[in-house]
Amino acid sequence: MDELQGRVAVITGGASGMGLAFAHRFAAAGMKVVLGDIEEPALDAAVAGLREGGAEVLGVRCDVSDADSVHALAAATEEAFGAAHVICLNAGVAGSGALHEQSLADWQWILGVNLMGVAHGISAFLPGLIERDEGHVVVTASVAGHTAYPGLGIYSATKHAASVIAETLYNELTSSGSKVGATALCPGFVDTGIFDSARNRPEHLTDTLPDLDTDEDRATREAFLEMIASEALKPDAVADLVHDAILDGTFWVFTDDRHVENITNRHAEIAGRRNPTEARAITEDALD
Ligand SMILES: NC(=O)c1ccc[n+]([C@@H]2O[C@H](COP(=O)([O-])OP(=O)(O)OC[C@H]3O[C@@H](n4cnc5c(N)ncnc54)[C@H](O)[C@@H]3O)[C@@H](O)[C@H]2O)c1
Repeated sequence: MDELQGRVAVITGGASGMGLAFAHRFAAAGMKVVLGDIEEPALDAAVAGLREGGAEVLGVRCDVSDADSVHALAAATEEAFGAAHVICLNAGVAGSGALHEQSLADWQWILGVNLMGVAHGISAFLPGLIERDEGHVVVTASVAGHTAYPGLGIYSATKHAASVIAETLYNELTSSGSKVGATALCPGFVDTGIFDSARNRPEHLTDTLPDLDTDEDRATREAFLEMIASEALKPDAVADLVHDAILDGTFWVFTDDRHVENITNRHAEIAGRRNPTEARAITEDALD
């Protein structure tokens, strides 16, 4: 896209973290913003904060794991501001634990938000963008969409999927000569609420398995969270990268080089038909 001023951005998971930072960045560029989010108090606060800054903003309570809810978000956008231009499929949740310790509810919750949320967003918004032949889709994947860290299996499965959905979309758009753009955002560590994702876990998908964490696991997690608070990138910096990628048509957006070595090693192992060597959890890797 050449111009964002006066255009409309829709951001799922827009009430906090990176999504909220996108909203502030887009509003500063003169866009109208629509936030879709499941967490109502955070959504209300986000809308109030943006309005205070003079933004034209709409907040819609939306559960991205529910197709009807995402289609209702599209309808509310159209009614309030007309056609949407920038669609950020960003809502996400994270959970961790070895695959044999995960419940089916874990799978259903994380896949429902991170994978079906993207599918629902594409189904609700992409046909309009293609028909009008303008706009940009940003899919928030992760470095977890390029790696296979132990303990992050379900989350990584959804982020590999998000990343390849975005890449397929980019290939389809370019091969058909469409003016619609696409970006895969692959953040490393960003200081957001993602590490407290269970706050939005629905009751019908409550985890029923016992907590198998040892004291050592808990201490590692605490040290990891301290590292995130002090060292991880702030969401505003990611929002600047996303803003620029939309304007200059950049597809891959990585936020730092921290995981490059693991990603490069994995690609080399696949190309050389060698067995995987990424044997450490992401939390241990981060604390080096
Ligand atoms: N923070 C990181 O280090 C990091 C790294 C890589 C990728 N990501 C991805 O970034 C995206 C944004 O997360 P964040 O880090 O800003 O965390 P965050 O928790 O601050 O924001 C996520 C938002 O998604 C919303 N959400 C959760 N479930 C939802 C649902 N069912 N429907 C609608 N909204 C829902 C939450 O209420 C929240 O506002 C996610 O897709 C996450 O997987 C984060």
